[in-house]
Amino acid sequence: MTDHLPFGEVRNPRFFGQDILSVSQFDRSDLENLFGVAHEMYGMVQRVGTFDLLKGKVLTNLFYEPSTRTSSSFVAAIERLGGSVVQINNVTYSSVSKGETLEDTVRTMEQYTDAVVLRHPEKGAAARAAAAAVKPVINAGDGPGEHPTQALLDAYTIKEEMGRFDGLTVTMLGDLKYGRTVHSLAKLLTLFDVKINYVSPEILQMPQDFMDAVAEKGIPQHATTDLDEVLPETDVLYVTRIQKERFENPSEYDEVKDSYVITPDVMKGAKSDMAVMHPLPRVGEISTDFDTDPRAAYFRQMEYGMYVRMALLALVLGRA
Ligand code: NCD
Repeated sequence: MTDHLPFGEVRNPRFFGQDILSVSQFDRSDLENLFGVAHEMYGMVQRVGTFDLLKGKVLTNLFYEPSTRTSSSFVAAIERLGGSVVQINNVTYSSVSKGETLEDTVRTMEQYTDAVVLRHPEKGAAARAAAAAVKPVINAGDGPGEHPTQALLDAYTIKEEMGRFDGLTVTMLGDLKYGRTVHSLAKLLTLFDVKINYVSPEILQMPQDFMDAVAEKGIPQHATTDLDEVLPETDVLYVTRIQKERFENPSEYDEVKDSYVITPDVMKGAKSDMAVMHPLPRVGEISTDFDTDPRAAYFRQMEYGMYVRMALLALVLGRA
């Protein structure tokens, strides 16, 4: 991650024209390459704001679930690269409401545009769309499955905030069962020498298949319901929202909704040199009183996200 690429040059062309469905597609050198390009994007945005690397490219943003950050950061990313976007974020007003299949909708949009960013409530939807489409499909969240572009920006945030990955203890807090961002991030962090703690209510623990994938890579993991047990050793606290919309039984949500709240007082028990992250939106799990603490990285995390998405679009759509 030290030698940044000359601007616009893509050293590793293997993402050109490819779908981005899971973090499993990335190895450590891919991340170094991506983060190098993201860093260049940061520099260019500071210097000139918008430039022509992807001039003429058109992206589809196809969102079957609500989104603020993911959707608008992809719009900002393609527009800052000189491209443009066709936005479909209220599928009730599209032919989806007439019963069109996901496959047909995606095959429609690829006739008009160069790649499709897809968010969908079903696990595996992005893979289904990719199987139907010829052009690249980028998974922007498939239900409780994965959210690979979020994990890439989360990893970039860790790199920028902490300066390294190896030796870090990362604690994931909240809804680890339904939270797709932690699913992808846990898998991605196995590329590094980290320790992962999971803190959640009993009914919202990290699913076994993700824990098995992490264990297979020899990464130490520890699950608990008690934040105080692991907070003092934590270098990165990754807080998540309880995913209300994925509960089958609403009374179960009420039981767990206020399980953990990060406040300045709680954070007295943490290191002074650490970072608190959150993919956002938050619904009370981080008190706004904590926002001015230098360890609160969640607003910076959003900005890093735009540079990472610019870099990813450059790799997928750019000149190899
Ligand atoms: C997350 C998501 O949609 O999975 N948001 C995001 O993309 N930044 C997290 C969430 O909804 O809780």
